[in-house]
Amino acid sequence: MAGPNNESPIMKFFVDTADTAEIKSLAESGLLDGVTTNPSLIAKSGRNILEVIREICAIVDGPVSAEVAATDYEQMMREAAVLKKLAPNVCVKLPLTPDGLRACKTLSGEGVQTNVTLCFSAAQALIAAKAGATFISPFVGRLDDIGQDGMELIAEIVDIYSNYAALETQVLVASIRHPIHVTAAAKIGADVATLPPNVLRMLYHHPLTDKGLAGFLKDWQATGQSIV
Ligand code: G3P
Repeated sequence: MAGPNNESPIMKFFVDTADTAEIKSLAESGLLDGVTTNPSLIAKSGRNILEVIREICAIVDGPVSAEVAATDYEQMMREAAVLKKLAPNVCVKLPLTPDGLRACKTLSGEGVQTNVTLCFSAAQALIAAKAGATFISPFVGRLDDIGQDGMELIAEIVDIYSNYAALETQVLVASIRHPIHVTAAAKIGADVATLPPNVLRMLYHHPLTDKGLAGFLKDWQATGQSIV
């Protein structure tokens, strides 16, 4: 698994869940570079946020996004102080609001990793980068859901960011619904995709792989050989 000092040379995969059993199982795949959570995913887990984030950070070396629940700057900063102390790989997730970006600017200045979430426009991605976000999270699926092309937004953001060589904000494609979102994001050159566990598992599958393997195994058995 790629950690902070072992960056992936290709698009990074984060898993979008707070289910620690799923994260443990997917971490064994060697494909996981990080984890994202949000208040809805924490609610779905039925667990205490601090306990679950601490546990996830012990499983995965890469960034683990933990989202603030406050909407005002002062309270966001108090919550961020608690979250960032949980583990060195905590990435504080903040909503794309004036207070969220103000908190992003302060935290980024302190060297804390930040993920600015709920991005639906290139203008929003621009101001998140100006606030020093480590990651910007545009939601492709939710744009598709309302009849807009989410992947066009990814292309637009990647294009804009590429104009500024010193810019370090990474495009983290969120709200992914299926493998086509993943490959389309990779074609555009997005830095990270955060995948629901079922979509990550779907990436392995092709019916011709299953059919081909069954054929190889049948022919192999007929030889009566064994390698070990
Ligand atoms: O975690 C943010 C994002 O990935 C949520 O996705 O499926 O709730 O639109 P979704």
